[in-house]
Amino acid sequence: MRSTQRATVRRTVALLGAAGLLLVTSSAMLATEHTDRAEWQAKYRRPTEIPFPNSDPYSEPKARLGRMMFFDPILSGSRVRSCATCHNPSLSWSDGLPRAVGEHQQALSLRSPTLLNVAWVPKLGWTGHFRNLESVAMGPITAPSNMNISEAELVRRLTAIPGYVDAFEAAFGEGPINRKKIESALATYERTIVSANAPFDHWLAGDENAITDAAKRGFDLFNGKANCVACHSGWAFTDSSFHDIGVAKGNDIGRGTIFPTSVKLKYAFKTPTLRDVARRAPYMHDGSEPTLEAVIDLYNRGGVDRPSRAEDIRPLHLTDAEKADLVAFLKTLTGVPEPVTIPPLPR
Ligand code: HEC
Ligand code: HEC
Repeated sequence: MRSTQRATVRRTVALLGAAGLLLVTSSAMLATEHTDRAEWQAKYRRPTEIPFPNSDPYSEPKARLGRMMFFDPILSGSRVRSCATCHNPSLSWSDGLPRAVGEHQQALSLRSPTLLNVAWVPKLGWTGHFRNLESVAMGPITAPSNMNISEAELVRRLTAIPGYVDAFEAAFGEGPINRKKIESALATYERTIVSANAPFDHWLAGDENAITDAAKRGFDLFNGKANCVACHSGWAFTDSSFHDIGVAKGNDIGRGTIFPTSVKLKYAFKTPTLRDVARRAPYMHDGSEPTLEAVIDLYNRGGVDRPSRAEDIRPLHLTDAEKADLVAFLKTLTGVPEPVTIPPLPR
């Protein structure tokens, strides 16, 4: 890993970790030499608070209203599809499909990403084209291929249901239901979707028996020979940045659509969180890798060698035992999710 990336990783963790807990180490060290487990462990500790923006602070009535709308199919034209159809808590807030299926019953071009830990994701969408959570909501709602309902029709439906009128007043005070309030309530609820403690966290906390020896070797590979940490860094295992890891093909140029002159952003997609990743097959923005084993094989091959390919992607020469260790480690990131109750929906 280059020193600039290392500095970024360290800064991010220092912000998230308890103040003063982390000591800065020599930035001249290379990742491969960096074998001190305890030091690596410190970089992965979970944050203690959800970051709600000052522009849209947390309130319980807002989160409660957002949760009702999230699970309510009246947010789609057909009254069949809710946000939870594609971001299903039982499927790790994704849908188990290679590509999302919208109101037209046709596969969209992208897989539904998990909503776990979205409060920490600065640029949303696989290509980072949404600037914040508030701005994501109306996209899927009004897209004809997704939920297919106009903003006016949605406001009309919500306004016709007294339970929603009351819930909007509890969250925002008197006044008509509008787009801004819908976006704010949905975003507030989504920020509360956080991955649970996993065996990995129990190990970080000192329980040596929480994960197997194979997983511990996998952790060393992740931070060493396989260098996954170059991009999957910090407690949520993502740098929230965009890279070509050699998955996309043809016109599927990812963030390159936003930055057409950038060599490195062609075929670049957002690094996903690896929290609960074992519960979320198939993988990648296009659902092209069916299992974690297939993902490791892809990285071992080093993807497609082309100018846009990230510098940290190259053939890894892993042995079969090392591949199995990496998979064992990835599985330790899966926690027992908090039960999610679907609220009674007002009618
Ligand atoms: C038909 C399936 C489908 C439905 C319904 C749906 N989404 Fe999504 N969602 C997707 C797909 C596919 C993407 C990726 C879009 C992209 O990258 O441009 C996505 C992306 C997102 C993201 C960005 C996540 C990230 O990590 O970047 C958020 C937030 C989100 N959706 C929230 C919602 C909300 C809120 C609703 C309901 C109002 C909703 N979605 C309804 C499929 C769906
Ligand atoms: C250069 C940055 C980079 C490196 C290094 C890297 N990844 Fe990734 N990873 C990504 C990006 C970007 C994606 C999403 C790519 C896509 O969807 O096209 C991804 C996707 C994944 C996924 C699929 C997650 C999902 O929800 O679809 C897994 C699992 C994964 N990486 C594990 C690893 C492991 C294990 C290593 C080390 C062998 C590794 N990554 C190294 C950037 C990286």
